Amino acid sequence: MSTRQNFVRLGLKPAVFVLCLLPLLQQVWWAYTGNLGANPIGELTNESGVWSLRLLLATLAITPLRRLTGWGWLISVRRMLGLYAFTYGVLHLAVYWGLNQYFDLSLIAGDLKRPYIITGYLSLLFMVPLAATSTDAMVRRLGRRWQKLHRLVYAVAILGVLHYLLLVKIDFLPPLGYGLALAALLGWRVWAWQIAPRLAPLGRRQQAG
Ligand code: HEM
Repeated sequence: MSTRQNFVRLGLKPAVFVLCLLPLLQQVWWAYTGNLGANPIGELTNESGVWSLRLLLATLAITPLRRLTGWGWLISVRRMLGLYAFTYGVLHLAVYWGLNQYFDLSLIAGDLKRPYIITGYLSLLFMVPLAATSTDAMVRRLGRRWQKLHRLVYAVAILGVLHYLLLVKIDFLPPLGYGLALAALLGWRVWAWQIAPRLAPLGRRQQAG
């Protein structure tokens, strides 16, 4: 096995796995020791939601970072980051259903009229096919359709940011910050995939002329 393969398998992947697990372990520890603050249920809900969004943005940051730095090995942790975003999203939903709504179907259904709840559900719902097709076998089986399907991640992230923007009442700065980060990540893609390839021949023609 090459040095790079060793670095990815024995260093990078286990390190990222543990790092992504830390926020969950911290919440479990704080819940166990009674350190979740004055509103423990709110804390658990918000932390799981915000980590789902952070990891989603981290997943979307891999491609631009790879292109800008030339660090090809970054791709080897993208799937893990995406699956963690999904896991935190599922935990977020479990906390909301169990601790906020006490698994009461009438409460859960009653909340469905709120725009921020609808965008939250849609965001998580769109993550399901992405997680379900994340295995190597599915990538091979779906071929080009896999890439098309995985463009859903943009809708997932936009809905996640919208969910956050719609739920805040006073401090709009944090969701706006995440919105700005997402806009930069999507803007880079528009530039790299749509605009730059069209400008390249023009530049070459100018040089030749
Ligand atoms: C599955 C359906 C979802 C439901 C029912 C849901 C519900 C909630 C609720 C009740 C809150 C707390 C609102 C408050 O404090 O008043 C919340 C906060 C939040 N959720 Fe969700 N959510 C869902 C999905 C998601 C997803 C998929 C993401 C990320 C992509 C997400 C990200 C967030 C964030 C960032 C916060 C705010 C955290 C903070 O204030 O620090 N949620 N959500």
